[in-house]
Amino acid sequence: MSDKKFSVVIAGGGSTYTPGIVLTLLDNLDKFPIRSLKFYDNDGERQQKVADACAIMIKERAPEIEFLATTNPAEGFSDVDFVMAQIRVGKYEMREKDEKIPLKHGVVGQETTGPGGIAYGLRSIGGVLELIDYMEKYSPNAWMLNYSNPAAIVAVATNRLRPKSKIINICDMPIGIMDRMAKILKLDSYKELDFDYYGLNHFGWWTAVRDKKGNNLMPQLQAYVREHGYILPDESGTEKSWRETFEMAKNVYALDPETLPNTYLKYYLYPQEVVKHSDPNHTRTDEIRLGREKFVFEECAKITESGTAQNSAFKSDEHASYIIDLCRAIAYNTKERMLVITPNKGAVENLDSDTMVEIPCLIGANGPEPLAQGKIPRFQKGLIEEQNSVENLVVDAWTEGSYTKLWQALSLSKIVPDAGLAKAILDELVEANKDYWPELKIGRPEPV
Ligand code: NAD
Ligand code: G6P
Ligand code: MN
Repeated sequence: MSDKKFSVVIAGGGSTYTPGIVLTLLDNLDKFPIRSLKFYDNDGERQQKVADACAIMIKERAPEIEFLATTNPAEGFSDVDFVMAQIRVGKYEMREKDEKIPLKHGVVGQETTGPGGIAYGLRSIGGVLELIDYMEKYSPNAWMLNYSNPAAIVAVATNRLRPKSKIINICDMPIGIMDRMAKILKLDSYKELDFDYYGLNHFGWWTAVRDKKGNNLMPQLQAYVREHGYILPDESGTEKSWRETFEMAKNVYALDPETLPNTYLKYYLYPQEVVKHSDPNHTRTDEIRLGREKFVFEECAKITESGTAQNSAFKSDEHASYIIDLCRAIAYNTKERMLVITPNKGAVENLDSDTMVEIPCLIGANGPEPLAQGKIPRFQKGLIEEQNSVENLVVDAWTEGSYTKLWQALSLSKIVPDAGLAKAILDELVEANKDYWPELKIGRPEPV
């Protein structure tokens, strides 16, 4: 291992995930040494609250790290090796609308799926492309690890519009589920598991889970999931909406007893059930405002006021350690096997080669090398091709300024049952997103 120390910028420095990432970086300096850490955000006020607390955490644990929080792209993106991107264009204010507008019409209202995910996608594409352009201007050799959602739509957009850029789109949901699998199997960590998996982001299936000796653990896991979904014996710290999601995995599993599903499939396969359990006046955004967001900003204020992070309740977490593992794999060309979103290139034999699939890859200095997953069954192929068309139509709508393409995307989505309903929701979303979406000139009906 060389003795190089790395320079990292976190784009979306004001994110609720930032303190966890900083803490995890500090816990892993022996494995991934850093010399400079920067925060970049376009909301300086929000970011500063997080930065003031993180500056104290860094000063106490690793004062040699240079730290800077900025809203200036030139400062933020110069001299960096890695960009960790986690922006939420429109912030929670817009996520709330993504959830509540469709729900008002009796349709799933969710951050990354259905009409809400499509609306968020149209906001995120421009934001993430802008980050790529800053990175390429100021640090052309850097890699971007992008978590900004909806990662599926962002991945289609970055692959089509910046095909040569050094960006890898990633997700922590499979890691979160595999962490649950490890607990079900009474293992210490998901890292003790080998697996095969295919799909799109938030739209995939495990086909194999083994221990490091090669023993097949699927039958044991499937027997558990058939009865409990991914619910663990102790869920005391889990929020209500997530408990419902882990529970519902058993209904999703029932549709294909050969595999194990990603939890997000519930929105596509049981949308009516999801709507029945939703409160249009109190959605996940409200839960987060009273939960994670409140906790993070109160905890940051405590650190800043007391001048020390020694009693802080922030913890390092798997979300962050996955990003760091990915940085390490690139930095040291380890060829570690990791799940990322990447152009298919034949890895799933019976899907188009340009589909942005989420599959295991070997990760090295030149990015992901997809691993063959063979042919997939008709059920999954049908679902994936429909959803992939939806995601590509959203990118078409963004590039062409096409209302028609966006209406088609919403109408094709398995979550929206009717094109008339799709249009009613779309018209409200257009109005709500007028500060963020490109103008949709093509095919927009004249107001009557
Ligand atoms: P958050 O709203 O707390 O933080 C997002 C930050 O991004 C805010 O500080 C905001 O000001 C900033 N921002 C918005 N637009 C920007 C732009 N154009 N340029 C620079 N900064 C901008 O959100 P959060 O809940 O902490 O989530 C952050 C992001 O991470 C979201 O996109 C979320 O969906 C994503 N996320 C993804 C995964 C995954 O599995 N891929 C997991 C967790 C979170
Ligand atoms: C998982 C998914 C992310 C998503 C998050 C939502 O981690 O992989 O893509 O953003 O859940 O969590 P939240 O707590 O913001 O609803
Ligand atoms: Mn995700």
